[in-house]
Amino acid sequence: MKNIISKKVEQMQPSGIRAFFDLVLGMKDIISLGVGEPDFVTPWAIREAGIYSLEQGFTSYTSNKGLYKLRLGLSRYLKAKHKLDYSPEEEILITVGVSEGLDLALRTIINPGDKIVVPQPSYVSYGPVTELAGGLPIYIDTTKDDFKLTPEKLEKAVDKRTKGIILNYPTNPTGISYRRKELEALSRVILKHRLVCICDEVYGDLTYDFEHIPFAGLGGLKKNTIYLNGFSKSFAMTGWRVGFACGPKDIIAGMTKIHQYTIMCVPITSQMAAAEALVSAKKPVEEMKREYRRRRAFVVEELNQMGLSCHNPQGAFYVFPSIKKTGLNSLEFSQKLLKEEKVAVVPGTAFGASGEGYIRISYASGMESLKEALERIKRFLGRIKNAKK
Ligand SMILES: Cc1ncc(COP(=O)(O)O)c(C=O)c1O
Repeated sequence: MKNIISKKVEQMQPSGIRAFFDLVLGMKDIISLGVGEPDFVTPWAIREAGIYSLEQGFTSYTSNKGLYKLRLGLSRYLKAKHKLDYSPEEEILITVGVSEGLDLALRTIINPGDKIVVPQPSYVSYGPVTELAGGLPIYIDTTKDDFKLTPEKLEKAVDKRTKGIILNYPTNPTGISYRRKELEALSRVILKHRLVCICDEVYGDLTYDFEHIPFAGLGGLKKNTIYLNGFSKSFAMTGWRVGFACGPKDIIAGMTKIHQYTIMCVPITSQMAAAEALVSAKKPVEEMKREYRRRRAFVVEELNQMGLSCHNPQGAFYVFPSIKKTGLNSLEFSQKLLKEEKVAVVPGTAFGASGEGYIRISYASGMESLKEALERIKRFLGRIKNAKK
């Protein structure tokens, strides 16, 4: 039989992170600073709510849009926390993580050939999911602007075929975030060209140095913005697979159409647990955040001291140091470090071509492992330096 696999899928590259970590799987005693998920277990009150829902026999489908109790809880939570106004009936959809929300959003707005702006380095799925939806990702290199998209570069990238932009802050892989003024400057370009802004704010609650400002909360932006968020990162709930999309009612209705045919609904146990997270997990979430902040300070300080120049990220749990001084490229550096010191980091190129010369280190790892891993990286750098002499 011929041509079983579609051209689109055949041409798609597997995720650079996956390819690298397939290597790691076969090795023993590795310290992995590669994973993008909390090292914490979901807080107990949330797990208990999931267990209790099963004990009570909640095992059915829910409404396609998600449990009303969860949508209502989210509507109240977003209002109280960010002054965002979303109707639980029409403007909120519960999704299988931000991952599904992103896919639905792109499929809902893209006509074949529409362009979607993606600032890079970026989360691995933005480009491929845009292409799967029939769109054309337009990458903007942010490495010379402290990894931030500037209004000037956005203006330059936009043309008649540009339909939207994917903004993600705090950003995976760099951890940078934007202040209100910077967001307002971007929003003026977005409004001028009537772009749809798909805003992935999954790390919003893990912002350390200033207040996280949701894009949809800026003046005039609610009607242009699809706000994506979820429980994976800040509530340490990656495996429960719960996210949510908020936006104008016609967009949410469009997304719900695809969701009802492809997914039906998010598992009820996870939705029950997520509803509980909104009311009773404030304290453990704050504790996790404090711990990430402590680790961030340690990792940034250590990396800069050993000569891997590293900006201070304002959120998420990643740092993105430059390894250019070593003379190795990102993949060589990561492979050599893995082989010689058994420390796994992610080559910057996994996040797009502009990630060349960088590596991503996740500090969602216990302090002891971080200390040991950084010692090993230091030893590794020492050897490279000596070999050059
Ligand atoms: C920026 C970003 N968006 C979305 C996701 C996926 O999140 P979820 O678990 O909610 O699907 C990740 C996971 O690493 C991420 O880093």
